[in-house]
Amino acid sequence: MDNQLSVMIVDDEKPMLEWLSILLEQQGYSVTCFSDGRKAIVEGIKNMPDILVVDVKMPGISGLEVLSRLREKSPELIGIVITAYSSVDSAVQAMRKGATDYLIKPFEVDQLLVAIEKALGEQKIRIENRELRRKIRSRFSIEGIIGKSKPIIDLLDEVRMVADKDSTVLISGESGTGKELIARAIHSISRRSEEPFLGVSCGSFSHSLLESELFGHLKGSFTGAHRDKEGLLVAAKGGTFFLDEVGELDRELQVKLLRALQERQVLPVGGTKQIPFDARIIAATNANLKEMVDRDDFRPDLYYRLNVIPLHVPALRDRSSDIPILLDKFIENYSEETGETARSITEEASEALTNYSWPGNIRELENVVERVCVMTRGSEITFDDLPDFIREPTVTDAGMFADKVSAVESTFPTEIATPTLDEIEKAYTLYVLEHRARGQKRLAAKLLGINESTLYRRLEKYAKDRENP
Ligand SMILES: Nc1ncnc2c1ncn2[C@@H]1O[C@H](COP(=O)(O)OP(=O)(O)OP(=O)(O)O)[C@@H](O)[C@H]1O
Ligand SMILES: [Mg+2]
Repeated sequence: MDNQLSVMIVDDEKPMLEWLSILLEQQGYSVTCFSDGRKAIVEGIKNMPDILVVDVKMPGISGLEVLSRLREKSPELIGIVITAYSSVDSAVQAMRKGATDYLIKPFEVDQLLVAIEKALGEQKIRIENRELRRKIRSRFSIEGIIGKSKPIIDLLDEVRMVADKDSTVLISGESGTGKELIARAIHSISRRSEEPFLGVSCGSFSHSLLESELFGHLKGSFTGAHRDKEGLLVAAKGGTFFLDEVGELDRELQVKLLRALQERQVLPVGGTKQIPFDARIIAATNANLKEMVDRDDFRPDLYYRLNVIPLHVPALRDRSSDIPILLDKFIENYSEETGETARSITEEASEALTNYSWPGNIRELENVVERVCVMTRGSEITFDDLPDFIREPTVTDAGMFADKVSAVESTFPTEIATPTLDEIEKAYTLYVLEHRARGQKRLAAKLLGINESTLYRRLEKYAKDRENP
């Protein structure tokens, strides 16, 4: 039996050994007995028991010595000490040597069984906690970032390089690509990792709440401010502060944040005294901040202050080779969380998921996997278990194509019967720029699948054509 627990009993009184071994064997433990401490140590080092029951007072080597020697080798060893001397001293000493519990002779059978059960319970919780802590740590650490594609490997190299610097990092990337995960990974491998990682999402608070979250407030500074509140920038002391969706900051807070970052101190709402802070700043945005600066929607000075180290998290469609391993991981996570056995996935289903464009990136993939796991009864996820929009990409592709054709058609003056390719290119380029990218040239270039410089060249040409028709 593999899961049978082993108990080693060490006592110089033979009748005691016999009594305990019969009793514990009856309870299903596998038992070894020793009347000599030295032999017990030698055997224990070779074959470590799960539980050690030792008598304190023995000729030669004491039970406490046996315990401490074996615990050196195996810190998880449960040690229950039995003693005929009901002195507080030996009990205290026993606990110091790492005994889990002690019993005073004479004791009842049940007392020993209860002590063992209790110790096993505590040990289980300890192991679970440690496992949980390890999991949390690895989930938010660099090992928790899944991907073997070139863009991810390069990104993780950059993460390792910048982690231990104190410079401000600006993480850009589409929604759901893992920007927060990257920020946490930087923190977790930095020398600030033992200190807090705090953050706010600038888009999810009203102006005044966000100001008080960031910088704190003094009692009475506004209705409802019943006591002084420390700002999160200050509270993250020694650690990292994550400014998520930084593009959402309004003008006034952009100014206040800039001043705080320059002076490394904050002015709480309603306060007159600046308070220094010591947090490394990591900002994230799914908007193109540079374009916002160009459009005059974001202060250039704050942009430059944040963009000291730019990191870009690639969209999932640009690293689709990572999708199969992400799938496996998310399926495994789901089974771990629900206690169900992990499902397998057919080649066909995996391929369909890999070919999908994932506009919502990893978050969308995570959600789809969960949904599919919930809805799939069998032990295998097949193509038919996938949601419609993934199974029928041809429909959307065709739809998109029809959409493009009608867009081009609608842009032509009706008198042009058969447009030339140049005319089609021009009409479609201008259509995408205006209607799809809402004037954002970089986005338009991306949608058209051309370089930004190519787009600029074309636009210049169209402008010239207009001037000299
Ligand atoms: N490389 C990855 N490996 C494993 N899980 C990932 C990876 N990247 C992202 N995730 C998971 O995807 C989800 C979205 O990630 P995260 O919240 O970091 O994205 P985000 O870019 O901050 O999104 P948003 O812009 O919407 O705030 C999270 O559950 C995260 O754990
Ligand atoms: Mg985020």
